[in-house]
Amino acid sequence: MKRISIKSVSVLLILGLGLFVGITFVGCKASQQVSAKSGVQLWAENCQRCHNTPSPSSFSPEQWETIGMHMQTRALLTDEEKTKIVNFLKQ
Ligand code: HEC
Repeated sequence: MKRISIKSVSVLLILGLGLFVGITFVGCKASQQVSAKSGVQLWAENCQRCHNTPSPSSFSPEQWETIGMHMQTRALLTDEEKTKIVNFLKQ
């Protein structure tokens, strides 16, 4: 049986490293896109998965604060996303 040469191992290592760097880069790009999203966008994308979204005027700013906390855990939102959505709903 032919032994794997050092050369082919290092080629594999370089390919693996390239893949890793590539994936990391794409990951960063994705999270930049999320943080570029507005409250309205996040609200439209996340809040109607489970129910029809009540309009911003249906609740008072204080109520939205509380609802935001409850729905953050349900919708698996980050703090930043929740804050953006709640700020939009409070307007
Ligand atoms: C994973 C499912 C799910 C997602 C996603 C979700 N909700 Fe809900 N939501 C529920 C359920 C279940 C209830 C009813 C039970 C409750 O009030 O906790 C509810 C109730 C509500 C209510 C009614 C509260 C009341 O007192 O009448 C509001 C308003 C609301 N959600 C807003 C939102 C907003 C805004 C988002 C987006 C950030 C969101 N929901 C995302 C499941 C979800």
